[in-house]
Amino acid sequence: MADADKRLAAEAAAAEVQDGMLIGLGTGSTAAFLIAALGRRVAAGLRIEAVATSDASAARARALGIAVLDFADVAMVDLTIDGADEIAPDLVAVKGAGGAMLREKAVAAASRRMVVIADAGKRVARLGAAKLPVEVLPFARASVLHRLERWAEWVEQRDGGAYRTDNGNLVADLHGWDSGDPARLAAALQAIPGVVGHGLFLTEVTAAYLARDGLVARVERDAASG
Ligand code: A5P
Repeated sequence: MADADKRLAAEAAAAEVQDGMLIGLGTGSTAAFLIAALGRRVAAGLRIEAVATSDASAARARALGIAVLDFADVAMVDLTIDGADEIAPDLVAVKGAGGAMLREKAVAAASRRMVVIADAGKRVARLGAAKLPVEVLPFARASVLHRLERWAEWVEQRDGGAYRTDNGNLVADLHGWDSGDPARLAAALQAIPGVVGHGLFLTEVTAAYLARDGLVARVERDAASG
């Protein structure tokens, strides 16, 4: 059921993509449905270019005939479509279960619009139940992990410390993290030397397609916050 809803949300968002757009491709299982849908549209004649938020999504897109540019050469993206681990009614989100949160945020920040696609399992009244991933420079591992402990019940190195992001960094997953004031937490995390990114997306998401039991709802940030 979750997979069917992921597909529905992804296909609804894919319908927003128009000829000539530069699209940001998300990462994860829901984004994979998006890339598949765009691949079908490209095969049918849609002309787009893309940037990808992970090496895996870039490879998936290229295999389907989607032109993937190097994001290092791209200043602005028309529309980014990506999954989430948690999304609240005001469209704040937690991302990074797949470890791609830094590239996802860089691409989102360069995008005119960022649309989240998700099944009902990702909808929450407020953030806090999902682990919060933090990307950490390996050079500063021990000191960063120590400072992160202030903000969570426990901090776990992903794969026992063996995990590396596409950027060569490790990931610390915060469990039972302090969700009372996400903006304060985001600022505190970003201020730790050696933290290079985290999975709190507080301002980036402009809209979401949320699917539940075969029905898709579209939520706009303005409507959600107003
Ligand atoms: C990747 O790092 C994540 O931010 C994903 O976007 C998020 O984990 C959602 O993934 P699924 O669509 O696989 O649940």
